[in-house]
Amino acid sequence: MAKEHDPYLRHLFDGTDLNVYDHNVMNLSAGAPGPDLLQLCVNLFQEATRHCLEKEKEKAYLFQYGIAPGMWEFREELAKFLSKQYGEPVLRELLVQTCGATHGLQLAMIEFLWPDSIIFVEDATYMLALQAFQKYPHMKIVTVPITDSGLDAEALEKIVSEEYTKRQWNLTEERPFWAMLYTIPVFHNPTGTTMKESTCQKVVNIARKFNILVFCEDVYNLIHFTEGPPPKRLFAYDFETPGYKGGHVISNGTFSKILSPGVRVGWMELPPRLAVNIRKSGILVSGGATNHYVSGVITSLLELGLQEKHLTYAREKFKNRMNILCDILETRLPKSCVFLRPMGGYFVWIKLPEFINSKQFTDWSTKKHKITMVVGSRFSLENKYNNYLRVGIAFHDKEIIRQAAEVLCIAIREFIEMITTKKNLT
Ligand SMILES: Cc1ncc(COP(=O)(O)O)c(C=O)c1O
Repeated sequence: MAKEHDPYLRHLFDGTDLNVYDHNVMNLSAGAPGPDLLQLCVNLFQEATRHCLEKEKEKAYLFQYGIAPGMWEFREELAKFLSKQYGEPVLRELLVQTCGATHGLQLAMIEFLWPDSIIFVEDATYMLALQAFQKYPHMKIVTVPITDSGLDAEALEKIVSEEYTKRQWNLTEERPFWAMLYTIPVFHNPTGTTMKESTCQKVVNIARKFNILVFCEDVYNLIHFTEGPPPKRLFAYDFETPGYKGGHVISNGTFSKILSPGVRVGWMELPPRLAVNIRKSGILVSGGATNHYVSGVITSLLELGLQEKHLTYAREKFKNRMNILCDILETRLPKSCVFLRPMGGYFVWIKLPEFINSKQFTDWSTKKHKITMVVGSRFSLENKYNNYLRVGIAFHDKEIIRQAAEVLCIAIREFIEMITTKKNLT
């Protein structure tokens, strides 16, 4: 490999003119906690590591291979934490440790799907999941529309039914699904929407009727801006009813958004039959859990109440940033633009007038106003949403968000004016 293919880079956003850590441009693209929050992790991890290693002096089991689903104590502490946060019971035995949500997705696909299964995705959806799905050459990706309150359940049923009848499917107990619905029901990326309760129940009913796996990216659920518990996760609608032995929903969670993406720890919450199956995964058994040592440190973080304290603090920061952004958008965005104020999560989805191309806009705004964000078409398999922008609030502190929101409104106004009056882009 040539040296130029291995540049010296320190993080995912490094190495371009749009590095979020640089101050020469206001980059609202990142979907990750920023430096002010990550700096707090240094002390948190020092304390948790000390606590954790103290327990290891005698047997040092934490440095041995772990058990496939992840250390018992880790899952026990995680179950307690999640039960409190969700305001709903979460059972230790249904949890499996992962190296983050992305790994959970890959694991579920390997363990439960067939090489030629169908993947239903919301249109729009998380752009990097789309990129990952496109690497599975025999899996067909089919889009399902979403509305302002999440997935369109009627459209889903119609589309699933059409695909189901197209061919014969031979399923086994180990791989009981011919298709997967990939969904982000709560504080959706990129649209910020949340699936309404009646839709959640309908989605579970469709999954049961047609035997599909519903893979829920519950990665933003705990970043909620209203009092009380967050919206109920779809998993909780898939309860056992008399005679029912199924279980079709996986809740995929991560510490990336509530603590640090760098630690690469997450979890899947699975229905009993899938939780039993996944413990036999060659990958998990061979690896002796994923990231066993780090799970020990996270166990201490949870046990000491440090994660809860950090989440409460981070959530307040995110809420503040979201409010500042949305308040400014509400008053200064041209009336021809539309956005919904999300009740949680990291993103605001802005619709520009149909005649505006958001790629052209961001190319121009980066040069002219030193501001950029992600263009809508990246979230669509069919290259739709050409007049949409995704703005992220998680990375920058409130002063940068305030400044960026003001500049963004000015830039959009100026750009629309330029296009409508057919002036050259300068
Ligand atoms: C919907 C969704 N899933 C997964 C991820 C990645 O999560 P992780 O860092 O846990 O792999 C992200 C991050 O942007 C996301 O928005």
